[in-house]
Amino acid sequence: MKDIYILGIESSCDETSASIVKNGTEEISTVISSQIDIHKDFGGVVPEIASRHHVKNITMVLESCLEQAHMTMDQIDAIAITYGPGLIGSLLIGLEAAKTLSFVYNKPLIPVHHIAGHIYANSLVKELTFPLLAVVVSGGHTELIEMTDHYKFHKIGGTLDDAIGECYDKVARVIGLEYPGGPKIDKLAAIGQDTYKLPIPLQDDSYNFSFSGLKSAVINLSHNLEQRGEEIRKEDLATSFQKVAVESIISKVRKAIVEKDIKNVIVAGGVAANNGLRNAMKDLTDELGVELSIPPMKYCTDNGTMIAAAGYYAYLDGRIADLNLNSKSQDVLK
Ligand code: KG4
Ligand code: ZN
Repeated sequence: MKDIYILGIESSCDETSASIVKNGTEEISTVISSQIDIHKDFGGVVPEIASRHHVKNITMVLESCLEQAHMTMDQIDAIAITYGPGLIGSLLIGLEAAKTLSFVYNKPLIPVHHIAGHIYANSLVKELTFPLLAVVVSGGHTELIEMTDHYKFHKIGGTLDDAIGECYDKVARVIGLEYPGGPKIDKLAAIGQDTYKLPIPLQDDSYNFSFSGLKSAVINLSHNLEQRGEEIRKEDLATSFQKVAVESIISKVRKAIVEKDIKNVIVAGGVAANNGLRNAMKDLTDELGVELSIPPMKYCTDNGTMIAAAGYYAYLDGRIADLNLNSKSQDVLK
């Protein structure tokens, strides 16, 4: 069979990235231009600033990606683009670039849902096997997706309020850590003690999550300590918070594996980089005899590689868009 080369473009948040992937599994080249340092001063991503930087970076990112691969656009079979969900102004920059390339070089345009990208980051490591449960944990998402085959997504649960990464970042801000706070809490959690009592959220019969109550509990705890003139022990709070946050994910994943007869669990999204979650997932899947796959750190946060990998399977599934394709800040994975 002829090899298929997909150019993947990602610009949904604060990373401008392009990548070329062969047959959905082999990374040929990837360029990521991150804006983390720019948004740090504001404590989070500022949409207007993000879009302006995407405009500034996109051409250079695309050119370097082709250059590093020693390829030209003529050798590319199709262009995969994150059409949503994400920041609308940021999404539009990547989409316009993808449409322009598609039009000029007469290449098929493949719309990729950002979460499908995070899930397919795993296919760069290991072949996906089904029935599969994708645990999608990022700054914008906390979702459980059941997959019966390639590109057959069924969302069985999600967050009712904040996403887990958003909760990590907000808790980090309360204890004075810079954005993005998730990795910093993760580091502190490894050296602290579980001394603060925090509530485990939403222990109900659904596959849903809730993180706003946990976030409020941390804010209240911090205010109470402040009023009493006591210092917050950051590393202990990080340990206590991480324990509860991870447990709330694990209890729902356990329920889904058992009830849906899942054979393969994958963890996707920025928070898949979390050591507490990685260890707990390993223990759970070992106990239940289920296969676990978590992408290496470099594929966990946003990148074009995962979009190109998902784009390959979308291409095989015949998901080709025309030039009327529009960006969507919200969209259900289907
Ligand atoms: O997937 P991603 O790059 O962007 C979104 O699509 O949201 O995820 C970014 C999120 C941020 O909230 C960041 O704090 C979190 O992932 N994150 C972590 C860790 N590494 C990144 N959260 C907890 N522990 C980590 N080690
Ligand atoms: Zn993401």
